[in-house]
Amino acid sequence: MKIAIVTCSDTRDITEDEAGQALAKCIQNRGWELAQHVMVKDDLQIIKAAFIQASDELRADVILSCGGTGLSARDVTPEATLAVADRIVPGISEAIRQFSLSITKRAMLSRALSAQRGTTLIINLPGSTKAALECFDSCADQLEHAVDMMAGKGH
Ligand code: MTE
Repeated sequence: MKIAIVTCSDTRDITEDEAGQALAKCIQNRGWELAQHVMVKDDLQIIKAAFIQASDELRADVILSCGGTGLSARDVTPEATLAVADRIVPGISEAIRQFSLSITKRAMLSRALSAQRGTTLIINLPGSTKAALECFDSCADQLEHAVDMMAGKGH
């Protein structure tokens, strides 16, 4: 599987992207290909462009976004996801939130979405390293099957 990481943050640069680097390690540990790891500002148009590039040009199977899913005015990752989506995939984010609520009630403050663009699955993860890893771990086992389904392979 080809994975792209798009970290969305106004305050950090790529060298300080601890959450993105931790996710990259998890991907490599699973034997998946890390096709791209980029850092973008919390800007709707810039995040949209990063998603489109990873999906349409890079042909990533899965894009993991990191950060920008909360309630502050600069948090626009879910809006960018919706703007590039062909269809939303509510169950993934529902499952992530359900699992996360057993760890912290603050998980209810996540507006994260999951969506399909063509044969790319986009999953919004939160921005802190701890939260991003918890959320990734809660859905990672289902990703290979999801990618097979998008490729028309069936069960
Ligand atoms: N999910 C998990 N599993 N663990 C966490 O610590 N933090 C929450 C939530 N989801 C958290 C979590 C908090 S405090 C916020 S504000 C939202 O994710 C949004 O995070 P973001 O703005 O960094 O994307």
